[in-house]
Order: sequence, then structure tokens, then C-alpha cells
Amino acid sequence: NRYVAIMAGGIGSRFWPKSRTNYPKQFLDILNTGKTLIQSTFARYNKIVPAENIFVVTSEEYKDIVTHQLPDLPAANIVTEPFRKNTAPCIAYIAFKIQKKDPEAIMIAAPSDNLILEDEAFNDTVENALKFVESVNALVTLGIKPRNPNTGYGYIQHETIEAAPGIYKVKTFTEKPNLELAKVFVKSGDFLWNSGIFTWKVKNVIAAFEKHLPEIHEVFAAYQEQFNTPEEAKVIQEIYAQCSNISIDFGIMEKASNVYVIPASFTWSDLGTWKSAFENMSKDYFDNAVVGQNVMVYDTHNCMIHVPGGKLVVLQGLEDFIVADTEDVLLICKKDQEQEIKNYVADVKRNK
Ligand code: GDD
Ligand code: MG
Repeated sequence: NRYVAIMAGGIGSRFWPKSRTNYPKQFLDILNTGKTLIQSTFARYNKIVPAENIFVVTSEEYKDIVTHQLPDLPAANIVTEPFRKNTAPCIAYIAFKIQKKDPEAIMIAAPSDNLILEDEAFNDTVENALKFVESVNALVTLGIKPRNPNTGYGYIQHETIEAAPGIYKVKTFTEKPNLELAKVFVKSGDFLWNSGIFTWKVKNVIAAFEKHLPEIHEVFAAYQEQFNTPEEAKVIQEIYAQCSNISIDFGIMEKASNVYVIPASFTWSDLGTWKSAFENMSKDYFDNAVVGQNVMVYDTHNCMIHVPGGKLVVLQGLEDFIVADTEDVLLICKKDQEQEIKNYVADVKRNK
């Protein structure tokens, strides 16, 4: 059977101050579409698999938000983590959980912060991936043609000859390179961005954990007997207390030799940062993306201006800035330095 795990436990710190630890971006309607990111994500995958085979993996503290935002998701399919340990433990958890009841299962692991247009092309691409992993021991990711040297993504280089129609074996996977390297990658024309949408058989990703993240594999394997029983909530506390904090990209995708990529034909954006939201919004005459009823701009260009709530804001002489105002926090920073926002948030927390 086919399953989807929507990963929704991140705190979206690069979208601060709009995205907050107690209400992160995946639960917000970033682009004003009438749906929050997780609602659009759920709807997208619910066309591919029935709701009872979709799991949302998130922190305990977001359980109520998920329940409220996804009324069609069975309550038992909200899987909660006691600590935030990034995507590797999250994927291990769900893979071990599914494997216990369905050893030959295929799963998709998907982020909850993507914007995807052209549903049909998306469904075709995913279908191609699902078929491939059924017969090949492969870790498949969907790849996106890079538009700029964004340092927030994984970069993938693949063989030129297809392994199957539309599918290529990956030669190198580099997670979040520095700007210099990212520029070289994009210029070479030889690289794709990692979309973070993965497909594999659960038993094959578990084998990859055993090989590349053996400590994580060991602790989940030790407690798998208790999964899908009343004991699960208790043992998961112990498992997570022992797990290292690492992403699937650094932990497995960079190291495994059975990674494949399908270049996607649909339009994809990660709505992980202010800049990515900026790129997907309509602009005023001076190329500013403005949210706010009372914003006056003079000699201000290419800015992401987010001032909801009607406060009068006057901006003069700004170029390429983010101005983001919320009830209790005002952020003003250079748009091309937005990967730094994570560090500002860490400093704010430390100084509190
Ligand atoms: N359950 C759970 N627990 N979910 C998590 C956790 C966690 O501890 N940490 C992150 N997530 C969720 C996020 O909410 C998001 O939906 C997804 O996992 C990916 O995490 P991000 O933190 O957004 O990762 P990223 O954007 O820095 O990088 C990943 O995505 C890029 C594309 O958007 C990587 O896969 C990159 O290689 C990729 O290019
Ligand atoms: Mg992201």
C-alpha cells in the first residue's frame, strides 16, 4: 500500500516574526489563497492516497492546530513527536510505524511548506516515482530546475542517461552549500534543487538508516514492537530522548549510493522564507510586494513589506529589504541576508 507522511514539525524560523514557535508557517495562509500551507499540502496528497493512509508528523504542541485545520484527517493519523529532532528521526519514526503493519509499504515523505502549481504534472511525476520504487531499491527525490544560487536548498547532480523514463541516478547531493559553491552549481547548468519530496519503500529507507544513521536505526528498532499499541506514546519519549538531531538530507541523502531524481515538470516553490513568498506575490509599480492597507513608499524598490493590521508605515529609500511587522516584533533586514534570520531568532531566544 501507499502512504504519505507530511512533515509539519518545523518552526519556520526563517519566516520570523510571522512564523512563530507557537504558530509556525505551515499553519498560515502565506499567499492569501484561502488555505493554509498544510491544508493545501493535505489536499494535494489526498488526491493520490486516501486520508486513512496520510500521516501528519508534528510536535505535540501543534496537535490541536492540525486537528482543527485538517478535519478530514483521522485523529489517529496525527503522529506527535516529544522533541524537535529534525527530519531524519521524523522519517524513521513513520517508516518503522508503517513497516510494522505493512512491510512492503511504499511511502512519500513530504514537506508542509511547498507551493506546487499544475496538479496534473505533479500527480504524473509522483506516480512515476511510486512505480519506480516498487521494483527498485531506490531513494527517490523530485528535483527542481534552480532559478538562483539559493543556499537554503540541497543541490543534486545526476547521470545523463536515464535509469528509467524520466528518472536519473544521482551522482552528488550537497545540502545547503555556501553561496560560492551554489553559484558554481547553478552556473554549470548541471544541478537540480532538492524539493524535499521523497519516495521509497519503507523497508529500503530503514535499510538506509541502518547503514548511514545506525544509532537512530538501533533505537527505533529496539522499540518497534510497541508501535501501534497503547505503549507507543511512552516509548517514543525514550526513543526521542536518545535520538540525535539531524536532517534526512545531511544524514542519508548526501551519503546513500541508491539515490535517484526525477526532474519535475511542475512549478515548485518552497515557501520557507520571506524571499520565496516575495517571488510568488504580485508586486506594485516599484516591484515591492506589499501586505498592508496603509503603506506609503518613496523611492523604495524590490522590498517585501508585510505590515498587516492597518498601521501607517512610511518607507523611503529602501532597496531589497524585508520589512515585517507583527504585534510584538518588527524585523527590518536585507532580503539577500534572509538565511541569517535563523541566527537572529536564536539570539532573541537567548537574550530573553
Ligand atoms: N515532524 C517534524 N519534525 N517535521 C519537521 C521537523 C521535525 O523536527 N523539522 C522540520 N520539519 C518539517 C518542516 O515543517 C518542513 O515541512 C519539512 O520538514 C522540511 O524542513 P525544513 O526545515 O523546511 O527544511 P529546509 O527547507 O531547510 O530544507 C529541506 O527542504 C528543501 C526544499 O524546500 C531539504 O530537504 C533541502 O534539501 C530542500 O532543498
Ligand atoms: Mg523548507
